[in-house]
Amino acid sequence: MNRYAHITGWGYAVPDQILTNHDLSLIVDTSDEWIVTRTGIRERRIADKKESTASLATDASIRALHHAGVKPAEIQLIIVATSTPEHIFPATACLVQDQIGASKAGAFDLSAACSGFIYALDMATQAIRTGSLDSALVIGSETLSRFVDWADRNTCVLFGDGAGAIVLQASEEPGGVLSSTLHSDGSGGDLLILPAGGSKQPANEFTISQNLHTIQMNGREVFRFATRVLVQATQDAVHKAGLNLSDIHLIIPHQANQRIIDAATRGLSIAPERVFINVERYGNTSTASIPIAVCEAAAQGKLNPEDNVVFVGFGAGLTWGASVIRWSSPFLTRRKIHPARYRLPARLRSFLLRLLRKIEGWIWGNWQ
Ligand code: UT7
Repeated sequence: MNRYAHITGWGYAVPDQILTNHDLSLIVDTSDEWIVTRTGIRERRIADKKESTASLATDASIRALHHAGVKPAEIQLIIVATSTPEHIFPATACLVQDQIGASKAGAFDLSAACSGFIYALDMATQAIRTGSLDSALVIGSETLSRFVDWADRNTCVLFGDGAGAIVLQASEEPGGVLSSTLHSDGSGGDLLILPAGGSKQPANEFTISQNLHTIQMNGREVFRFATRVLVQATQDAVHKAGLNLSDIHLIIPHQANQRIIDAATRGLSIAPERVFINVERYGNTSTASIPIAVCEAAAQGKLNPEDNVVFVGFGAGLTWGASVIRWSSPFLTRRKIHPARYRLPARLRSFLLRLLRKIEGWIWGNWQ
């Protein structure tokens, strides 16, 4: 009996706070004209003090679960693809697990930079297809604004914050994720790097004085790499799925730069209408860019059941990859739960678990 992994729910969350190109021109030597012509970006969202990678991921996840009509306790695996985790440990995925009350889920973070969502989707798909689990939550979430050097015009104009999530469910019905291709080339690791804060260069006065806790990038080299691999990965994933490019209804690429996407569109010789772009409103949200674009494409009626869709991404590492998906409808078997009703039980559960741990600790301490 064959098993397939279908995308049955999707949701995204972005901060309310908008930073326009004009706002940036007051901080660094740049202009709306330069940013729009070189990148296509007009504005990006910036997390406020109360928002974090986990809170955005939680909001996106609740919307995806609501859309799929799935209860948190039915989720068996949570993967948060992120380059801006809340901590080195615990994993941001565990914070999300607690905040949504996914009491039966394993949870881990996945680090593959902007390709992370493609990698996470493939990991969860394989687990479903082998029968190891029936449902997973795959999330891309970022607060890149916290790692941007706001004095570096080469990078600060590019990035934004946000999260997107999908629910993946098992079914014997053919479809869902049809193929994936994943690649890496560590020889290009220095082209896009956040040098300090890891075990090689833990935070100290020197790393802080040298600004080594912010994103450093060789933009031209990343640009050249990106235009090449977007084409290759798309062709590879389509071929693996046993399809031709003419069978693909929509390509949803990582949203880094309009010019990179346009070059890939020309390289694939496909009509621009078959490529989804929303970089102008969010900038580059790394792992979140593809799932946010998926939600917007679906809302605009560009994703319909049985459509063949390509997700394709690239990023630091260097990493790149693509997936081909046959689009599905939610498997709605019951009435949907209102999104507000996910939070309260999760908070109560978390509070009780913390309380129980304290009581257990107290009893244990008094018995020693
Ligand atoms: O998820 C993956 C993340 N990274 C990427 O996708 C980045 C890929 N690379 C790019 O998107 C582009 O290379 C950039 C948008 C970063 C830069 O565009 P570019 O057309 O490659 O510009 P450039 O680096 O060749 O710079 C051209 C000029 C330079 O001035 P000079 O040296 O020619 O005088 C830069 O200093 O533009 C200058 N410049 C700016 N000017 C105004 C660089 N950034 C800015 C800016 N405003 N924000």
